[in-house]
Formats: sequence, C-alpha cells, structure tokens
Amino acid sequence: MRRKLVAGNWKMHGNHKANADLLAAIVAARPFGCDVAVCVPFPYLSETAVTLTGTDVRWGAQDCSAHEQGAYTGEVSIGMLAEFGCRHVIVGHSERRQYHHESDQLVADKAKAALARGVTPIVCVGETLAERDTGQTEVVVKRQLSAVIHTLGHCAGEMVVAYEPVWAIGTGRTATPEQAQAVHALLRAQLQAATAHAADMKILYGGSVKPDNAATLFAQPDIDGGLIGGASLKAADFVAICRAAA
Ligand code: G3P
Repeated sequence: MRRKLVAGNWKMHGNHKANADLLAAIVAARPFGCDVAVCVPFPYLSETAVTLTGTDVRWGAQDCSAHEQGAYTGEVSIGMLAEFGCRHVIVGHSERRQYHHESDQLVADKAKAALARGVTPIVCVGETLAERDTGQTEVVVKRQLSAVIHTLGHCAGEMVVAYEPVWAIGTGRTATPEQAQAVHALLRAQLQAATAHAADMKILYGGSVKPDNAATLFAQPDIDGGLIGGASLKAADFVAICRAAA
C-alpha cells in the first residue's frame, strides 16, 4: 500500500501574515496519515523552512532552473532550493507550459536537475479540454511523461508524477474518480514498462480537489494523493484533504 502524498501548490499567493496562520494551522493539525508538503513562492521559502523545520511537514518550490548556475536572469537553481531545505519541486505545471512555453524536454531537464541534488520532482502532465474532446488525452500525457522517463533513465523511479487535467485546474470541474483513475492507470503502465519501481511510485491527481471529493478520488487504486491548488490556501480545506488521504 503506497503512503499517499498531499502537496499544496500555493501558486502566486501569500503574504507573511497569511502564510504564518496557514502554516501554524497545518502544523497544529498533525499528525497526518499521509505525507504532506507545501510548495510556496520562492520569497517565502526561508520563513516556511523556519516554521516547518522539526516537523514532518515538507516544503518545496513550484519551479526550478534546468541549469546548475550561470547567466540565467531571474531563474532559481535547484542548488539554491536545496539550501533552503526543499524536499520537492513542481516541474512542468500546465501554467508554466502554457505561459512560459515550457517544452517536454525542458521539463525533463528540470526533473533531472532536481534529482541530481536530492530534491524530488513532482512532474505534472495533463491534457487540455480540446485535447480531451478530440480523444488525444492518452497521446498527450504519454508524450509528456515519455520525455521525462527517457531523460531520467534509471532514476525514473525516483520522481513523483502528477496528473492534472488542464480543464480541471481552478475550474471547479473536477475529473470524476473514473476519469482520473483511467489516466492514472495508463501512466502506471507506462512507468511499469520503464522502471521496476513503478508500483512504489506516487501518481498524484490535481485539478479542483476539495474536501468533498478528495476521499473518492484518493480511493482509486492508482491515485496516490493530490496536488492541491486553491484549497491549499484554506487551512481547514487543506487539512480536510490531508485527512482524506490517511
Ligand atoms: O498544481 C495544482 C493546481 O494546478 C490545482 O489547482 O485550484 O484546481 O486545486 P486547483
């Protein structure tokens, strides 16, 4: 039985007061019957590390450079994130693929850079509504994951995968448990063909996970937790979702 992971993706939200209140509520709600992580905006990594150090709540970032260092204005290296104690880094989120035109290979290179410094990448894959409506879901998510598997090689088993149907992100239109499980099963099969560790890997679902749908999603055999956006900013909701993953 895989221990589930619930990771909050704060996206570009937060301020010192709200962060302190949210983190305090999460810490106070422990213990959780699952792994819990919060992926915060870069400026808040230091305060998050101070607050969470000594607890079993992990923290991470929402992106990283594919480069170790150099003249890459505005980018943040995985080495810098490791210095702040990051355990996870989200790579290939659909919002970065869309707004920053991140290619499958760039996402794969970011995942490789993360693993090279002992930070676990949460690799996001997912189709748009147009791709789903035209029957391209399997082709798209397999293509996205294939680039990462190929680049990571024998380390492929060390990543976390997150299936985030783009049409479910921030829309309140959650994939049904059956829809999500169908894609998770495809991804698990793809991983099984690539690594002996597939059965132990976590495949998270993301896209309008809320307290009232988390349990049925997490009950699916190949859904190993969630990547939570909006609900991760509300302490009661995020804690309820973590409880549903126990
Ligand atoms: O990375 C998680 C995020 O994309 C999901 O957002 O608000 O639909 O939970 P939300």
